[in-house]
Amino acid sequence: MNIALIGYGKMGKLVERRAQRQGMTVSLILDSKNNERFQGLTPENLAGIDVCIDFSTPQAVVENIRRIARAGVNMVVGTTGWYEHLEEVRRIVAQSGIGFVYGPNFSLGMNLFFKIVEYAAHLFHRFQEFDPFIEEAHHKLKKDAPSGTALALGRILEAAYVDHHVPISSVRAGYIPGTHAVSFDSPVETITLKHVARSREGFADGALLAARWIVGKKGFYAFQELVERTG
Ligand SMILES: NC(=O)c1ccc[n+]([C@@H]2O[C@H](COP(=O)([O-])OP(=O)(O)OC[C@H]3O[C@@H](n4cnc5c(N)ncnc54)[C@H](OP(=O)(O)O)[C@@H]3O)[C@@H](O)[C@H]2O)c1
Repeated sequence: MNIALIGYGKMGKLVERRAQRQGMTVSLILDSKNNERFQGLTPENLAGIDVCIDFSTPQAVVENIRRIARAGVNMVVGTTGWYEHLEEVRRIVAQSGIGFVYGPNFSLGMNLFFKIVEYAAHLFHRFQEFDPFIEEAHHKLKKDAPSGTALALGRILEAAYVDHHVPISSVRAGYIPGTHAVSFDSPVETITLKHVARSREGFADGALLAARWIVGKKGFYAFQELVERTG
């Protein structure tokens, strides 16, 4: 399987190492130097690529998607911070006929955590003395805040807590590993559910799982759907 890495920072480099270990070929690598104005995403450069894996920036990702879709190549997007363009991207994917998987968090554990939070919201929302809230913390280099994962957790809670804004607090400092906690607080007790990502390898392996799954398929998928179908 031939993959292209769009974005070659912390995640892109890790995906490269894990992909090689899994017997995949990395045939194209783009970063801000050779794709500053998206000049790297030509049909010629993308010829023979089975899947592009994007871990770039919120500023670059939507134009990357447009160009890759135009070239008819399937795509896995791990980049976060662009979800206000989700509907536009859904249309681009439908019109181009490519296969597309995206997710704010490619770790298997977090995707199971999403299900736990969904169930907890279903239990707690019937008792109005419990208020839900989210706390997340990451290392100081993380650019977007709140994290895409925290926003996804917020959407899961708000599906049960209709007309209720769920507060999210974010910390960016030091070398904190990605940490997300969902709490339900009443005057007399607090329940906290917590996920800590100890290594980024889980994200890279999830992206590669998504890449293998989307080869030869069409359509627009959230990574969470894929975990539910595979599990
Ligand atoms: N879904 C998940 O599971 C998951 C997990 C971890 C991170 N993320 C997200 O993935 C994204 C990347 O994270 P990271 O930690 O790898 O960030 P990073 O280390 O800052 O890497 C970003 C990369 O994007 C490149 N880039 C900038 N503009 C570009 C363009 N026009 N075309 C192609 N590449 C471009 C940068 O190039 P230079 O090196 O030349 O600057 C850099 O290599 C973030 O949005 C982060 O939130 C998602």
